[in-house]
Amino acid sequence: MRAVLSFILLFSFTLSGAGAEPVVIRFSHVVAEQTPKGSGANRFKQLVEEKLAGRVKVEVFPDAKLYNDDEVFIALLNNDVQLAAPSLSKFSILTKALEVYDLPFLFNDLAAVEWFQNSETGRRLLNALDDKGLKGLGYWPNGMRVISANKPLRSPEDLRHLTLRIEPSKVIEAQYQRLGAIPVKLPLADTRDALRRELVEGQENAWSNIYSQGFQTLQTDITETNHSFQGYMLITSKTFWNGLPADLRSELDTILAQVTEEVKTQAAEQADRDRQAILAAGKTRIIVLTDQERANWRQAMMPVWALFAKQIDPALIATAQAANAGNP
Ligand code: SIN
Repeated sequence: MRAVLSFILLFSFTLSGAGAEPVVIRFSHVVAEQTPKGSGANRFKQLVEEKLAGRVKVEVFPDAKLYNDDEVFIALLNNDVQLAAPSLSKFSILTKALEVYDLPFLFNDLAAVEWFQNSETGRRLLNALDDKGLKGLGYWPNGMRVISANKPLRSPEDLRHLTLRIEPSKVIEAQYQRLGAIPVKLPLADTRDALRRELVEGQENAWSNIYSQGFQTLQTDITETNHSFQGYMLITSKTFWNGLPADLRSELDTILAQVTEEVKTQAAEQADRDRQAILAAGKTRIIVLTDQERANWRQAMMPVWALFAKQIDPALIATAQAANAGNP
């Protein structure tokens, strides 16, 4: 009799859904936790577990502990992870549609990037991976890129013959080849070691990645070129996302929208904070370019646009330029 009662109890518990396993979202990324993306991922976990307790569980894997960015796309499609936010430059292997983001001197600042991404054109780009089974859920910024080396880089000519770690983007590669430098594509996780062993002599990145990876301890000079945008697209697999109950998807969308706003604020503040911390440590010079010097960098890098003119939709460039004027 007792066995029958237990069976009935277990049966009704299961039917009520009270015993259902929570959906697990594994979020893999390659940066340190104390960066805008790292904090954003942790904040997402915190809010999901507050608002969807028992229904959704989030596991965050920072610092490429689980996957590097070139592996994460397959991991998403295999449902080994459910959320990632690779740098926009890493999408080069999947689509040409996002190459626009790497054009040097396309955006004046983070505000222009935000205008662009909020525009209809920018939002449309979130669908760029639709035919690959991936869905863009939003954009997170990091910062503008600066260049470091073990010598002062005041003019683009100073880059000649310098080996530089870059993200795996064809546009970035062409940009440095044009300047006579030798770009080397490496995962972020291997860059510190490559600098330490002098396999590469310099690198480019946003302030938060430089500071959190400790690149400034291995480089004497950082030139504040602010020549391109470094930021992310949050992606998931369409199969996973579309398989979620509609109410859960909507709750997750709302949480992501809140985290996105927080990441934007943090990115702007953290760029200043990490720059200041590097300066205060007193080991690395920061080269602030004059208007004329920056114009020289611009002039040297801009011919790269023509190399990609056939594959980058001119409408994207026009919208980005309008974004600089605050009018997309
Ligand atoms: C990232 O910010 O996610 C990584 C960028 C890089 O590979 O330098």
